[in-house]
Amino acid sequence: MRKATAQSGRTMARLLHDFGHDLPRMPAPETPQRSPRLFHYAARGGAARPGRGWAPATAPVSSWRMTSDQAPVWWPFVATPGLPPTGAQMGIDQLSGGSFFADPLGWVLDDEISVTNPNIMQFGKPGRGKSGNTKAFCLRMMDFGYRTLILGDPKDEYEKLCRALGVEPFVIGPGLPARINPLAFGPLGQGWASLSAAEAHRRTAIIFGRWLTLVRGLVGSQRIGEHRVPFGPSDEVVVTTALRRLTGYSTGASQLRETTIPQLWDALNTPTDDLVRDCRYESAGHFLNETRLLRDALGQLVSGALAGLFDAHTTVDVDWNAPIQSLSLSRLDALGDDAMGIALTCLGSWGRGMREMASRGDLRIVVRDEVWKQFRLGPEAVKAYDADLRLSRATGDIQWANAHKPSDPMSAGDQGSQAVAIAKDLMHLADVKILLGQDGAVADELERLLDLGSIARDLITGWAMHGMGRGLWVVGEQMYKVQTVLHPFERDLTFTNDAIESAR
Ligand SMILES: Nc1ncnc2c1ncn2[C@@H]1O[C@H](COP(=O)(O)OP(=O)(O)O)[C@@H](O)[C@H]1O
Ligand SMILES: [Mg+2]
Repeated sequence: MRKATAQSGRTMARLLHDFGHDLPRMPAPETPQRSPRLFHYAARGGAARPGRGWAPATAPVSSWRMTSDQAPVWWPFVATPGLPPTGAQMGIDQLSGGSFFADPLGWVLDDEISVTNPNIMQFGKPGRGKSGNTKAFCLRMMDFGYRTLILGDPKDEYEKLCRALGVEPFVIGPGLPARINPLAFGPLGQGWASLSAAEAHRRTAIIFGRWLTLVRGLVGSQRIGEHRVPFGPSDEVVVTTALRRLTGYSTGASQLRETTIPQLWDALNTPTDDLVRDCRYESAGHFLNETRLLRDALGQLVSGALAGLFDAHTTVDVDWNAPIQSLSLSRLDALGDDAMGIALTCLGSWGRGMREMASRGDLRIVVRDEVWKQFRLGPEAVKAYDADLRLSRATGDIQWANAHKPSDPMSAGDQGSQAVAIAKDLMHLADVKILLGQDGAVADELERLLDLGSIARDLITGWAMHGMGRGLWVVGEQMYKVQTVLHPFERDLTFTNDAIESAR
């Protein structure tokens, strides 16, 4: 039978083939390829080659058995890639056990670290060590040629640090001689006569832009009942035109005159015909009627929060070569939170002006502590702060700001509106965030805004709340669990609990 089949010769496949059909063939079984070996056995002492961790004696190893349920506790040992050991040595990176170094400008220059600006924003509950971190960072960066500018010290807590460095801080307060003119030209106003027309034009755009942001922030911080004084496009035209006339820019003066806020107010109260015409009003009466709110808001500031502080030409002579400079503001405490916020707004704008042109290699840390006092003044003040940070031109500057929580700007009163959008934007002004201990609600807010994830969130409400200077450093997209370690000498310099020390 078998023979007959064999003789008949044609298999089913052959038969079908003869009629033009091909049966599918059974694929040949694949010979399994050996995957490359990930792990190699090493000799007990390690491979005796450079860089392979050879040790003359073997480490005592204890072996453990566990189920896969328990193993994730040990494996995988996930820790973010370490940062290079450059810049200020801040403390301990708790996940790697090594030292944590902060070097914002170095991070910007390093392609492997996703940081594009060197600015730092620090959030933390009061008393968690925000100012301590700030002082330690500034102090430790001094070794690398950085100088520090404290743009407003509401509690005078940087005074100890200044004095330790041989610098006497400026004290600003009612009845004291120090004046800061927020309408100062700054270094951009120097050598005006010899500038080309294009350069003069470029510089005026920067200077007038800065002043306008400031006046807008100041006027917008004033209230009418529950609401803030609006500052519209017509107010903008009036203020800019008046400032151009006062400085002599609109008349083509080769030397610009510095002006002050009371002079601006005067100019608006007694408008010249030129000013009225340039602002396109029919008559002086029309001008005065239309600008009443603006003038009254400025007037309140001139006779109120700015009086005797920010209403005259600058009298302090800042030595920009000193390791640190600070402006103490605690004397303003008695005038209320608004006055403090206004002082911070003025100093912020003045400081930005002073830093608009920095020489190469002039590395500086510009500190804004307790910025929430400025944020409380409403959306215009928040915008002024935003502009000061965003437009800070000196590329060697590290802007450092401390606040309690990201929603500080939202407490300005208009939830869900512009202020919220700005608050979110503010977060992007700093690629490095330091998150110290917080209560649950604020931690939730941070988690949402920064995409932290629950592990990081729990660190902020748990671990970070159990010690001063404990925080999560968010460097670009990487996170580090860091304990800042203070030297006893620094502990003394950063001590801020003097008032309650006697309770010990
Ligand atoms: N890393 C730290 N280690 C130990 N003590 C610290 C540390 N950071 C701050 N402190 C202390 O904690 C107190 C409050 O810190 P502070 O920086 O003033 O808090 P904040 O600015 O957040 O309100 C200060 O007396 C300070 O000396
Ligand atoms: Mg503080």
